[in-house]
Amino acid sequence: MDHFHLKDGILHCEDVPLPEIAAAVGTPVYVYSTATMQRHARVFRAAVADCGPDSLTAFAVKANPNAAVIATLAAEGLGADVVSIGEYRRAVAAGIAPEKIVFAGVGKTAPEMAEALAGGLCQFNVESVEEAEMLSAVATSLGKDAPMAFRVNPDVEAGTHAKISTGASYNKFGVSLAGAQEAYARARALPGLKVQGVGVHIGSQLTDLAPLAAAFEKLGGLIADLRAAGHVITHADLGGGLGVPYDRTLPPPPAPDAYGAMAAGIVRYWGVRLIFEPGRMIVANAGVLLSRVIRVKPGAPDPFVIVDAAMNDLMRPALYDAHHEIVPVRPSGANMKANVVGPVCETGDTFAIGREMGRAGADDLIAFRTAGAYAATMASTYNSRPLTAEVLVNGSEWALVRPRQELAALIGADVLPPWLG
Ligand code: LLP
Repeated sequence: MDHFHLKDGILHCEDVPLPEIAAAVGTPVYVYSTATMQRHARVFRAAVADCGPDSLTAFAVKANPNAAVIATLAAEGLGADVVSIGEYRRAVAAGIAPEKIVFAGVGKTAPEMAEALAGGLCQFNVESVEEAEMLSAVATSLGKDAPMAFRVNPDVEAGTHAKISTGASYNKFGVSLAGAQEAYARARALPGLKVQGVGVHIGSQLTDLAPLAAAFEKLGGLIADLRAAGHVITHADLGGGLGVPYDRTLPPPPAPDAYGAMAAGIVRYWGVRLIFEPGRMIVANAGVLLSRVIRVKPGAPDPFVIVDAAMNDLMRPALYDAHHEIVPVRPSGANMKANVVGPVCETGDTFAIGREMGRAGADDLIAFRTAGAYAATMASTYNSRPLTAEVLVNGSEWALVRPRQELAALIGADVLPPWLG
């Protein structure tokens, strides 16, 4: 459920009519709903409450790193899953307590490890023995013990898009289950490491619970084996991955309740502190990308609706053939079949082909739904298009939480070498 709805024939975010934001800020603009994020945070935490006491729900910052979004979720008690020192700094600056931060990622560098260790964190999710060796050296040089878990690769097919599957043996992530005992033995022997946990994350936008259940079962087996070998395992990170409904004509993905019940059935008696890393589930439906139709030109067989948002603003359709619902902000009741495209000079800049949708003509506002996750954060300035503005709505209030990048700033960032200056 989200808080975008029609009122008096106009699409609103909570109590704010979207045309009001477009008039003030211009388009394209991302609009986020506070109430939707709060609701999703609460729904998720309630859904996993039976999995174990004192669990940590760490929002995957990569899904939406806007400071206002993180601060909203920090106020809900969420922690953060970060994958770079940039995300770590954002999380801390937005009010997330360091002990609620987990640091994941396959390529952490020594300076990143040192800064996070100095600032404090719940744990590093380490993805190789080589990384554990680097972390040991960094921790030793700082005179600290680095809390860590190994992320294991359970060799499970997640059944999602290949580019966002992470848990198969041929993916770059984690240590193999077969090599896990050796990795833990090696880490235990290294100075400066506090080996405390296990972790798994098999992919994103999962629409079936079975692969997650398979991964959790394997993780449970590993915990038992590790304990038998004398390791003290106090933390288990179950990752993120729960899918959201993008295309309302398809059956919805499993609800958070079903995910929580599945997980509880497997992990409830592990005797660990559980960590969850949801990203998309918390913020995807809390955002729209508001855009204006520039013009409509004839096409065969369907017309091209050319909008002022492009692949640089919302990359998911170009990158993953992702579906985003596209709706007129003032629906007339009439429909059309159209190709919705942006102004960027490549065919990949296509949001929808032959889409049945509410009619939109030149100057009309449209909204791309479910654009709160992996959207603004993946934007680029391709075609010298400035980064999009972002707005946060809270009831009848709204605020600009990221101004549109100035074109002068974008262009002025380049520096001419002396021989051209
Ligand atoms: N934990 C780890 C270690 C992750 O790598 C990810 C996402 C998450 C948690 C959060 O997963 P979620 O709950 O959001 O599914 N750009 C792609 C998605 C990439 C996901 C990367 N990792 C997209 O637009 O679909």
